[in-house]
Amino acid sequence: MKSFTASLLSLSAILLSVMGSTIPPATWTRIEDVSSEVNGNITALQGPEYVTCYNSGTRVDRAPSISSIDDFCRRNFGAGLAPGQTVALRYYWGSFTILLSAQAINGCSWSVDGDCHRLLRKPLDECNTSGENGKQGGYVTDVCGQWRYDPGSNGSDI
Ligand SMILES: *[C@@H]1O[C@H](CO)[C@@H](O)[C@H](O)[C@H]1NC(C)=O
Ligand SMILES: *[C@@H]1O[C@H](CO)[C@@H](O)[C@H](O)[C@H]1NC(C)=O
Ligand SMILES: *[C@@H]1O[C@H](CO)[C@@H](O)[C@H](O)[C@H]1NC(C)=O
Repeated sequence: MKSFTASLLSLSAILLSVMGSTIPPATWTRIEDVSSEVNGNITALQGPEYVTCYNSGTRVDRAPSISSIDDFCRRNFGAGLAPGQTVALRYYWGSFTILLSAQAINGCSWSVDGDCHRLLRKPLDECNTSGENGKQGGYVTDVCGQWRYDPGSNGSDI
């Protein structure tokens, strides 16, 4: 039993060292306001909270995604969005980025509130559901807003 435990330990050590390059840094290195670049300009009415998954592109872990989402929601809490207006931040994590945005669509205007945390977790947790990690992102749209969670790398949001 002892040697079995020891071999399990060394196996996990090997796995950790193989996967070492994918362990994310403790926090982002920089945040860029990209509100003026990002304009989904979605005008089609969709049902309540319709999630679209990208299913391709950069894969990231859940942990840095959650810290970015929570920071985005805290920073933008109370921000009033006029019809068509977007707030968007790109979080730089070294080898990858995470773009987050909220946009008022369909002529609606509203303010970012605590629901931000729940809405941005939808394309995180309802896409790439086979594991905690390997998240490729997507966006959730309701009648009045679109929320985007979009991992990227190599200088693009893909
Ligand atoms: C980014 O570039 C690296 C190195 O060229 C490559 O291995 C990786 O697949 C690229 N990522 C994406 C999402 O294209
Ligand atoms: C959205 O697209 C329409 C049609 O291309 C354009 O007239 C409108 O100005 C755009 N809205 C915004 C906020 O960019
Ligand atoms: C994400 O999920 C989609 C749909 O199940 C799948 O096609 C894609 O390969 C997944 N990506 C990863 C990195 O697992």
